[in-house]
Amino acid sequence: MTGYWDVHCHLLPGVDDGAESMEESMRMLRMEYADGVRHIIATPHYRRGMFEASDGRIKAQYEAVCREAGNQLPGLEIYLGCEFYANMDMTETLNSCSRPVMGEKRAVLAEFSGNVSEEFIRERTAALRASGFTPVLAHAERYACLRENISLVWELSKMGAYIQVNAGSILGEHGRKCKKFCSRLRKEDLIHLIGSDAHGDQIRPPRIGDCAAYLQKKCGSSYVNQIFCVNPGKIFAGIAG
Ligand SMILES: [Fe+2]
Repeated sequence: MTGYWDVHCHLLPGVDDGAESMEESMRMLRMEYADGVRHIIATPHYRRGMFEASDGRIKAQYEAVCREAGNQLPGLEIYLGCEFYANMDMTETLNSCSRPVMGEKRAVLAEFSGNVSEEFIRERTAALRASGFTPVLAHAERYACLRENISLVWELSKMGAYIQVNAGSILGEHGRKCKKFCSRLRKEDLIHLIGSDAHGDQIRPPRIGDCAAYLQKKCGSSYVNQIFCVNPGKIFAGIAG
């Protein structure tokens, strides 16, 4: 099957801890393509004091990757997004347009520390909503406060956040506990999006195809279509290519 989305991927070379070279970016893209992915959102980290590549550098790398991919991988759409490490002035930074928001819903892939408090994740989600953004909670399975209290996932979802889970976590790459929590989220229909969160072609490679095959067996093709095609198409509608 083709037409899948990968909504979370560190494929731009030399802008964060993802791909290190154009060659590595292209190897990642060829893996995604072989898996049936045709829409990829490049989501370089933005984290103050750690990952702060300039807008100009990110755009230049994005355009270079698109040019290269355009010649080799027909029909593959690559979009520019961002994985934003939540901080207290994120809404101001986003409003100043110095980091891209994604599509008509102004989606923001928001990342938190693994030991984030319930209060902080709830308050930042509310702040994003109040400023007209659509929070997409990056790799929700990583946060202890959610693993310990699934009702908070429900609450965030009701507040208007979308829940993204990593393909590798569903497949058990991060241990049994994490895999079990992903199953629970899936059974409660709390997963809206799955991303690879790939950082390279060797270390943390994209595994959308393996994950889709696994979910196909567990839940059938309509679930796979919903998660990898329909939901991302809706949530990121209008995302500029
Ligand atoms: Fe990421």
